[in-house]
Amino acid sequence: MLTYNFENRTAIVTGGSRGIGAATVKALLQAKATVVAVYSSNDEAANRFKESLGDLAANLTLSKLNVADYAQAEEFFRQFDEAHPTLDILVNSAGIRRDAVAAMMPEESWRSVIDVNLTGAFIMSKLAIQRMLQKRYGRIVHVTSPSGRMGIEGQSNYAASKAGLVAMAKSICKETARRNITVNCVSPGFIDTDFISSLPPEQLDAYRKSVPMKRFGTPEDVANAILFFASEESSYITGSVLEITGGLA
Ligand SMILES: NC(=O)c1ccc[n+]([C@@H]2O[C@H](COP(=O)([O-])OP(=O)(O)OC[C@H]3O[C@@H](n4cnc5c(N)ncnc54)[C@H](OP(=O)(O)O)[C@@H]3O)[C@@H](O)[C@H]2O)c1
Repeated sequence: MLTYNFENRTAIVTGGSRGIGAATVKALLQAKATVVAVYSSNDEAANRFKESLGDLAANLTLSKLNVADYAQAEEFFRQFDEAHPTLDILVNSAGIRRDAVAAMMPEESWRSVIDVNLTGAFIMSKLAIQRMLQKRYGRIVHVTSPSGRMGIEGQSNYAASKAGLVAMAKSICKETARRNITVNCVSPGFIDTDFISSLPPEQLDAYRKSVPMKRFGTPEDVANAILFFASEESSYITGSVLEITGGLA
């Protein structure tokens, strides 16, 4: 196992109460980081996650925030500044899906997915970078998806939001490179979280069979890659996308 030391590093992880975000929060805490985990509405899941961490939770703050709401994000960062002298790491894992074929997709499903997955990540990145610039150090990691690269039926909104994240990372990394702020993406395949658990069993079966490794990934599989991009050791990597898919092409 790779071991990292994030002592004296502070991280914000959006979507940090469940799934991939929660596994990332746990791994960061185990590596001695101070972490603020953002979630949007499910207090019960957030509190359950915090309780499951035991002593590790001492360095965790839970924060309820809709990342797509600029005013809420500004207020979140105002409070963050009061409690934390610097920000080193931002992981944008908050994400939703509202699948439907384009001809039947309600406009609201298009807008909400773009708002949370893409605009939310932009808002959080913008406000994070303003803080990172002062310190001339930062690590930003977006969670994209192969859907954004290859397209998936019923996911025009989701695929567009995830392709947008990659384009956004490749643009922002050019703006921040001279200040040692890297911006990278991880692209998980099928990962065993609430995000896909509501799919029909036959569809889950078909998806599993389509993976060369014949299994879904775990949230920890993705957290391992996120921690690499969040670490000092990845200092010369920016604007890149790492796929964690068990071989799914
Ligand atoms: N699981 C997969 O197979 C898979 C594959 C590729 C990419 N991804 C991407 O990986 C990321 C994490 O997925 P996951 O599987 O960990 O999802 P998940 O288990 O459904 O967790 C989603 C997390 O995002 C939070 N969230 C949702 N909307 C938010 C908003 N508007 N503002 C702030 N937080 C919000 C949720 O908070 P609440 O609990 O309050 O709702 C929760 O903490 C997503 O971006 C997803 O697109 C997942």
